[in-house]
Amino acid sequence: MTNICILGGGGFVGRNLASQLARSGYHVTVPTRQRQRIKDLLVLPGVEVVEADIHDSATLEQLIADQDTAINLVGILHGSRKAFERAHVELPVKIMDACQVNGVRRFLHMSALGADTHSKSVYQQTKGEGEQRVLSAAKSLDITIFRPSVIFGPGDSFLNLFADLLKLAPVVPLANGRALFQPVHVTDVARAFALAIDDPATFGQAYDLCGPQVYSLQELVRIVADTLGLKRTVIPLNPSLSLLFARLMELKPGKKLMTRDNHYAMQVDNVCTEGFPARFGQPAPLEANLGYLFGDGIKGRYDLFREAAGR
Ligand SMILES: NC(=O)c1ccc[n+]([C@@H]2O[C@H](COP(=O)([O-])OP(=O)(O)OC[C@H]3O[C@@H](n4cnc5c(N)ncnc54)[C@H](OP(=O)(O)O)[C@@H]3O)[C@@H](O)[C@H]2O)c1
Repeated sequence: MTNICILGGGGFVGRNLASQLARSGYHVTVPTRQRQRIKDLLVLPGVEVVEADIHDSATLEQLIADQDTAINLVGILHGSRKAFERAHVELPVKIMDACQVNGVRRFLHMSALGADTHSKSVYQQTKGEGEQRVLSAAKSLDITIFRPSVIFGPGDSFLNLFADLLKLAPVVPLANGRALFQPVHVTDVARAFALAIDDPATFGQAYDLCGPQVYSLQELVRIVADTLGLKRTVIPLNPSLSLLFARLMELKPGKKLMTRDNHYAMQVDNVCTEGFPARFGQPAPLEANLGYLFGDGIKGRYDLFREAAGR
């Protein structure tokens, strides 16, 4: 039995990875801020969910103490510069310190495609800085970094967000419609992590992870509408209207559709220069794997079929 701690394991990617690893016989510990929010993991044999403040160094040291491997998936998409730095730069450093104190050598870190300390987006800047810090520890730890493009699959907050918008309104304004992405399925990302854990050839390496095909954001929104059988008018916004739209969305309380920081990140194409790394298998195509967009099973499908039939 190998013990693995997945920091950020209660999120979209983490839940998929935790269940893959538990099925393979690993004992997985998932710290979270709110245990009740990840009920689906609580019932999985081999997965232990613990409520913890992972920014507290002493707590981290305790969490890592009995582990063979640490995986960091913590990331935020919206927030202040301070919040981005705390999540993307300070936390990985603290995790690596806790690994070193406990003699845990194996550390896998989630970055993002486009991570770049010179980016105008603070998300991308801090992901880039986090990567640099992790790479600088490559002599004392066995590190591997993953940099996925946008990730899709059941529970994602990207294509599901567009699905929700398209279900709400017949006309949808779209910022940065020409931005390019190469979506990769969550199961493929989780498999890459799982296969890398015990593979010494991945030590010291950073891998870009993309799906088989490049799409513009406008194409992705069209595919989501077609999958759901919705006839919608999508109005692409030019660059200055896209920025204005992002600024307005920032003012909306609650879950953010978009921020200016996301807008800046989208000014650089989010695509890979090479195919999915062969050692991690074949990536799933997007269009054949969108059934999850129908939401809550039969009722979700029924409402959409009824709308498509005009009844
Ligand atoms: N999803 C994508 O399309 C995509 C693309 C490229 C890279 N990534 C990266 O992949 C990683 C996982 O993404 P995801 O989509 O699974 O994200 P997610 O669903 O939002 O989950 C993020 C996880 O990070 C934890 N977290 C967030 N803010 C935290 C904070 N301030 N303190 C402590 N824990 C915090 C959350 O823990 P709690 O359980 O406590 O809430 C949650 O489990 C992130 O690093 C993200 O940047 C994602």
